[in-house]
Amino acid sequence: MRPNLVTGLDIGSTKTCAVIAEVVSDVTGHQPTIKILGVGAARTGGMRRDVVTDIEGTMNSVKGAVKEAELMAGVTVDRVWVGTAGEHVHATTSTGVVAVGSDREIRDNDVRRVHEVARAVAIPADRELLHVIPQQYTVDAQRGIRDPVGMAGTRLEAEVYIVTSSITVNQNLAKAVTRAGYKIDGLVYAPLATALAVLSEDEKDVGVALVDIGGANTDVVVFRNGELRHLSSIPWGGSVVTNDLAKGLSITFAEAERAKERYGVAFAQLVDPRETVELPGPGPGTKREVTRELIAHIIEQRVDEILGLALREIEHAGELARLGAGVVLTGGGAALGGASDVAQSVFGLPVRLGTPGEGLAGLADSVRRPQFATAAGLVLYAVQQGGAGSGAGFGEGFFGRILAWLKEFF
Ligand SMILES: Nc1ncnc2c1ncn2[C@@H]1O[C@H](COP(=O)(O)OP(=O)(O)OP(=O)(O)O)[C@@H](O)[C@H]1O
Ligand SMILES: [Mg+2]
Repeated sequence: MRPNLVTGLDIGSTKTCAVIAEVVSDVTGHQPTIKILGVGAARTGGMRRDVVTDIEGTMNSVKGAVKEAELMAGVTVDRVWVGTAGEHVHATTSTGVVAVGSDREIRDNDVRRVHEVARAVAIPADRELLHVIPQQYTVDAQRGIRDPVGMAGTRLEAEVYIVTSSITVNQNLAKAVTRAGYKIDGLVYAPLATALAVLSEDEKDVGVALVDIGGANTDVVVFRNGELRHLSSIPWGGSVVTNDLAKGLSITFAEAERAKERYGVAFAQLVDPRETVELPGPGPGTKREVTRELIAHIIEQRVDEILGLALREIEHAGELARLGAGVVLTGGGAALGGASDVAQSVFGLPVRLGTPGEGLAGLADSVRRPQFATAAGLVLYAVQQGGAGSGAGFGEGFFGRILAWLKEFF
């Protein structure tokens, strides 16, 4: 077993994806490389929406995805970083105030104390804390400070974004992973990881919405001034698009899924109205011709609706006017041709597709698909957190350097 491995595991509603990477320090120790060694994907079983309904089924998907990644990597892993998302994740803003020590200079310790105060909110018994994300500090009367350490003042106030999630949902997720034979290094709000894989630091600074169109959910997060400012989840994604096609074209869900991936486009204007494709007919072994435009119309209607809900969420959070960098689309739903055209017309903002791979070495090409953004991002998140690798792990200095490098890179 190699000591410096990091594994990201994204248990999505339709597919489970594992990415194994090796973190390699160069001779100078300043430019460590995150080398993708293996990627594996398996259909997710035993999940309904973002909730495990059958541990056995989910466990098998986890095993399938990790085994495939291990086979490709030629290594075995025993620990994974797991993502969680969906409607069970909530967030609120909280503030805390502390008095600064008698020398009036703000130190790390003051920041630690103010975080402790700010995070001391009552969390319902059925929920647990997932992340505490600093938003801004106020030193005496001066607001909007990003890093108060070293500043002079008597009063330090911190505003933090507190992300919580359902204990039951997490426990079932953890059960499926541990029964598959893996230890959990960390549980991460998945869009935070996805953002590391597909957003730049600049985008997060000037304001950006990341819209991950998955199977059962569309997760929407907003970053501004470098930090997560808003999160929400819309209980619709690619699966409802497939359902519409199945109903509208009188075919099975599996046939509709195939038709969507093969002929589907989210923006009807992109297809030639005369072009037809062959779909399964009503009787066994029969075929019939359908215009690609009809398929595109059905898809466009639903994608437009889902993105419209994302827009409303962002508007409601008061963030729409602050998206200097526009919108980044990712997730399997973003693989539909024309998805960004629909998003552009819905948001009236610049839209780009977010595909992972940037800043990754090794077999980076094998993660260059929007549906792998979360798993690849979990690897980046783990490295940023100084997460333990399988086996011996790294010294703090090593990860400190990587962290510095990552900050420089993004
Ligand atoms: N090439 C493609 N063209 C069109 N749709 C695609 C393509 N590839 C994947 N999809 C769709 O993307 C959706 C799955 O996306 P993704 O893998 O990101 O979801 P997930 O992570 O499993 O789910 P969730 O994030 O909701 O838990 C499915 O509805 C699938 O049909
Ligand atoms: Mg997903």
